[in-house]
Amino acid sequence: MTILVTGGAGFIGSNFIYYEFEHHPEDRVVCIDKLTYAGNLANLEEALKNDHFRFVRADITDREAVERLFEEEKPDIVVNFAAESHVDRSVEDPGLFLRTNILGTQTLMDASRKYGVKRYHQVSTDEVYGDLPLDRPDLFFTETTPIHTSSPYSASKASADLLVLAYARTFGLPVSITRCSNNYGPYHFPEKLIPLMITRALADESLPVYGNGENVRDWLYVEDHCAAIDLVMRKGREGEIYNVGGHNERTNLQVVKTVLKELGKPESLITFVRDRPGHDQRYAIDPTKIHEELGWLPTTDFDTGMRKTVAWYLDNRKWWQDILAGEYQNYYQHMYSNR
Ligand code: NAD
Ligand code: TYD
Repeated sequence: MTILVTGGAGFIGSNFIYYEFEHHPEDRVVCIDKLTYAGNLANLEEALKNDHFRFVRADITDREAVERLFEEEKPDIVVNFAAESHVDRSVEDPGLFLRTNILGTQTLMDASRKYGVKRYHQVSTDEVYGDLPLDRPDLFFTETTPIHTSSPYSASKASADLLVLAYARTFGLPVSITRCSNNYGPYHFPEKLIPLMITRALADESLPVYGNGENVRDWLYVEDHCAAIDLVMRKGREGEIYNVGGHNERTNLQVVKTVLKELGKPESLITFVRDRPGHDQRYAIDPTKIHEELGWLPTTDFDTGMRKTVAWYLDNRKWWQDILAGEYQNYYQHMYSNR
């Protein structure tokens, strides 16, 4: 079987490629990635040694390049990770998010129709449901929670989800969607909360917590997300949405304090900065459907996952120091200097 993975040079996509090699070594994996600031071939260093793997640098909105690749590879399954993924960047440049996240999805689905793929899987997010109030811990997102987005990022992901469902109903495209909560683990780009805090704490730099730090996210170790996607794309029901999350809610402040404790650094590094506009309060997933239908359960608890993640950043300093030494400096300066 040939699996086409888009965005495989990013955080979750690269973890997913390694998951596939480990659990389905007989399959061929083809990765298409534009290598934006978030895409990094260093993430695929080991994969590139595997002769069941092919990497193609291309933009998923480039119809000609996408069709050429489908013609050459005739993929059985397409898994779409490729996206602009950072909420803060979507506040700066919404247009880029609409192009990649919506039109890119359309391009991939048109090619999937033309070449008769057996499954088109869309990697989506719990952010399409908007947020939950902090004073209602009894509420969770289910697959039938209405779409109610807050940021250009989440609106673009929700639009793509609607398009996926429309292609299923109108054209009979065999699709599935997973909507996962916040991931963490190896290869996480250091603009996101956990790797940003790890890398800055290691340099004894201030840790910028937005607002009062009481916003809640539902954290899942990336490998558990990969296992869920693998299960849904192979065994999930066609046309269905599956929420993915491990009932692992933490305030941002709790997360940052966990990082500091793991690294033996003082809480005095924490600095409260101006809040993100439109900042979602709480995300919390109800994963009953994927558990009951497909038997999925997370296997890595938060303490273990955080220990593994911090250890990975300690063991792979060159990986993130190379990132921090480049364009990232301008990004950090631009986003945080007047906060
Ligand atoms: P990421 O930003 O680390 O990686 C995105 C990858 O897509 C990069 O390799 C980038 O080069 C590539 N890409 C971007 N635009 C492209 C284009 N036009 N053509 C081809 N490739 C392009 O993102 P991530 O955190 O790995 O997220 C992957 C997917 O999972 C996204 O669709 C995201 O919405 C979704 N998701 C992420 C999380 C999370 O916590 N990170 C949670 C739920 C869902
Ligand atoms: P992030 O990693 O950007 O993921 P998302 O916005 O998709 O949930 O942010 C996670 C939480 O951490 C979010 O509530 C915003 C907060 N945050 C900070 O407090 N400081 C930071 O520097 C960043 C990047 C995020």
